[in-house]
Amino acid sequence: MRKISQFIYVNIAKPILFMFPADGVHEFFLRFGNKLGKRSLARKFFKKIWSYENKILEQNICGMDFKNPIGLSAGFDYDGDLVELLPSLGFGFNSVGTLTHEPYAGNPAPMLARLPKSHSLLVNKGFKNKGVKKVLENLDQGPREAPRGVSIGATNKPYPDFDSMLRDLVDGFRDAENFDNFDFYELNISCPNLLNINNLKERIDSPLGLGQTLGLLEGLNLKRPVFIKMPLEKSSEEIKMLMDVADNFSFIKGLIFSNLAKDRTNKTFDVEEIKKAGAGNFSGKPVEEKSNAMLHYAYKTYHERFVLVGTGGVFTAEDAYKKILLGASLVQLITGMIFMGPEQIGLINKELTVLLKKNSYHNIKEAVGTLA
Ligand SMILES: Cc1cc2nc3c(=O)[nH]c(=O)nc-3n(C[C@H](O)[C@H](O)[C@H](O)COP(=O)(O)O)c2cc1C
Repeated sequence: MRKISQFIYVNIAKPILFMFPADGVHEFFLRFGNKLGKRSLARKFFKKIWSYENKILEQNICGMDFKNPIGLSAGFDYDGDLVELLPSLGFGFNSVGTLTHEPYAGNPAPMLARLPKSHSLLVNKGFKNKGVKKVLENLDQGPREAPRGVSIGATNKPYPDFDSMLRDLVDGFRDAENFDNFDFYELNISCPNLLNINNLKERIDSPLGLGQTLGLLEGLNLKRPVFIKMPLEKSSEEIKMLMDVADNFSFIKGLIFSNLAKDRTNKTFDVEEIKKAGAGNFSGKPVEEKSNAMLHYAYKTYHERFVLVGTGGVFTAEDAYKKILLGASLVQLITGMIFMGPEQIGLINKELTVLLKKNSYHNIKEAVGTLA
């Protein structure tokens, strides 16, 4: 059934959807998905035809039960419209956001574009969201079928200085602490679309800036584990310095490798597509190689300290399996779902099971980091 519906998505639905502007299609799916998620019959239907469960994929990480390692990465479901639907599509976890303390209407459109030959999306959202408080107030309060993360970052607005930006970021976390309808935090220090913030003198993704940020967050005694969403285009030395800083703060439980790519010289780009690309940064295959290298490096240096999450360019079970062997306990994606269809989540989980069994693993945990 998954293969049949994927055939229909890839050969009929996707070519039609790709004729329309990406921003509008995204909005449409958020609205439609929100309505579907509220209907138990629809949830049951998708669960039956698309999701895949197998004990071999189950893990307990930081006290959370993950039925499978494939999650929806931050940036697709900014305002949490899809949280009720996503577990029935087969996701093992999902991240809402990135949310900011204050609402933000988004960068000037277009905020999204497709680069089909490069297997990538051009992203220029700048955290379009309704703000932490409003989103969490509206978010489903019932029991969760899968762990739910909330990604928080700084609002994309002009700040007089770095300290004001930090205060705003910390206020976002303070607001979120008043809600119990999610399980973990992502601290986003790595969005390359935030022009206002990137113009400040100090940077949140420098060792000094990160140290200051985590020092302030420590004062909140956060109730839930925090995973840091890492930047992509850093050297191993720079990543090591950031990890050394994070190591000093016990509430930082994990690291996510990595955010979007800025570099337009990456060899995975189709030359004509990249020439025409407008403002923004890139997801998908142009992220994969570098984020895998950083994941591998992080596993070698810090695997006993941090849970590692791999994201960037996962389209197939083989792509996800590679991240797991390099050190990822969990894997996130967006672009692969848009290019391959939502049934790809169940297919990845099913094929991951085959790969794990073929290599004589009894549980996914045994495979994590075996290539490191
Ligand atoms: C449309 C879109 C919006 C994104 N927005 C965010 C965001 O708000 N916060 C964040 O941490 N990452 C964001 N990202 C990055 C993704 O979370 C992910 O790290 C990246 O796209 C690599 O995964 P992929 O290749 O599977 O898409 C965004 C990506 C896309 C495609």
